[in-house]
Amino acid sequence: MNIENLETPALVLDASIMEANIARLRERMGKLGVALRPHVKTAKCIEVAKRCLEGQPGGITVSTLAEAEYFAAQGVRDILYAVGIAPNKLEHVKDLRRRGVDLAVVLDNLEQTNFIGDLPALIEIDCDNHRSGAKPDGRGLPELGRAVKNLRGVMTHAGSSYNCRSTEAIAEVAEMERRAVVTAAQRLGLNAATVSVGSTPTAHFARSLEGVTEVRAGVYVFFDLVMAGISVCRIEDIALSVLATVIGHQPDKGWAITDAGWMAMSRDRGTAAQALDQGYGLVCDADARPLDGVIVSDANQEHGILSHRSGEAARMPKLPVGTMVRILPNHACATGAQHKAYHVVRGSRRIEARWERIGGW
Ligand SMILES: Cc1ncc(COP(=O)(O)O)c(C=O)c1O
Repeated sequence: MNIENLETPALVLDASIMEANIARLRERMGKLGVALRPHVKTAKCIEVAKRCLEGQPGGITVSTLAEAEYFAAQGVRDILYAVGIAPNKLEHVKDLRRRGVDLAVVLDNLEQTNFIGDLPALIEIDCDNHRSGAKPDGRGLPELGRAVKNLRGVMTHAGSSYNCRSTEAIAEVAEMERRAVVTAAQRLGLNAATVSVGSTPTAHFARSLEGVTEVRAGVYVFFDLVMAGISVCRIEDIALSVLATVIGHQPDKGWAITDAGWMAMSRDRGTAAQALDQGYGLVCDADARPLDGVIVSDANQEHGILSHRSGEAARMPKLPVGTMVRILPNHACATGAQHKAYHVVRGSRRIEARWERIGGW
C-alpha cells in the first residue's frame, strides 16, 4: 500500500530519517559517556522506543501515567515519571510498582514530601527559571532533601534552550543545566545517585556532561520545525509529516485549502517567535520535497489554508484538487498527539507498517 491510498489527514513517519536521528544522539551520548533515558512522550509508541533503547540501559522517561501503563505492558521496567507528582496519582504509581515496575516520581516542594511516603523520588531542579524545580543554590534545598525518605537523585530540564538563537547559546544553556544538577547533587550529599539532565537541544550541543549520569531527550527522534529553526537539525532531518489533500482554492487570495487543519497539525505555533515563522507547518509534495515558500498560513479545525509565505498569489504552485501534500510540523510531540498511528515509510511512498501510538492520561 502507498500513501496515496490513505484517507487524509494521516500521520506519516519516515523510519530511515528517524533511525538516523536516533543514531546521531546515541553516538553523541556514547562519546560523552552518558546513558540515554529516552523521553517517550514524543513518540508514545513501543516500536519507536525499542529503537531508541538499543544499546542503552533500558530506562525511559514518561510524562503521563498512561504512558507508564502502556510501556510497562510492553515490558519496560525502569520508568521515570517526570512531571511533579500529585496526590491523586499515588495509588496508580503504587499499583504499577506492585506489578514490578521500578517507577520513580519527581517533586520540588515539601508539600509533596508529605504524601509520597517511601516512593523513590528525584528532586526536580530549576536550572533556567523555565518552569518548575527547586533552586540549586536555594536555602530550602537541604531541608527538601532530608524530607524525601527514598531520594534517588536530581533531575532538570533546560526548557529555555528552545529559545536560543545559536548553537553556541545552546551549549551555554547546556552547561547551566549540567552545573545546576551537579551543584544540587553535591549540596544534597548525593553520591552514586542519579543526576539527570535533558532536552533535545542541550543533549546535542552540551560540551561536557561531567557529573551527569543520564540524559533525557524526546523530540530528537523525529525533530521538527522548531528544532530546525534553532539549527539543532536540518529540514531534511524531520521524520514526521501530516499527509493532507487539497480540497479547494481561493485563487484571488493565492490560497489552496486542505483537509488538515489544526486538529491534524495541533495549534502549536512554536515557530511564530522564531526568525522564520512557518505558520502551522511547512508544505512539501507527496515525496516530502518542500514546495518553495509554501506554508500552512492559517488553520481552522479541519481546514488548512496553504499560501506562499510572501502572500503573493502568483508564487503559489498549482495544486489541483486531490493533490496530496506532506506538512512538516512545528512541534512533533503536539502534532503526533493528534493522531492514533504512524504510517511508516522509508524514503518513498510505500507504507511498510502501521505503528499504533497511545494518547490521553
Ligand atoms: C522533564 C523533561 N525531560 C526531558 C524532556 C525532553 O526534551 P525534548 O522534548 O527537548 O527532547 C522534556 C520535554 O519537555 C521534559 O519535560
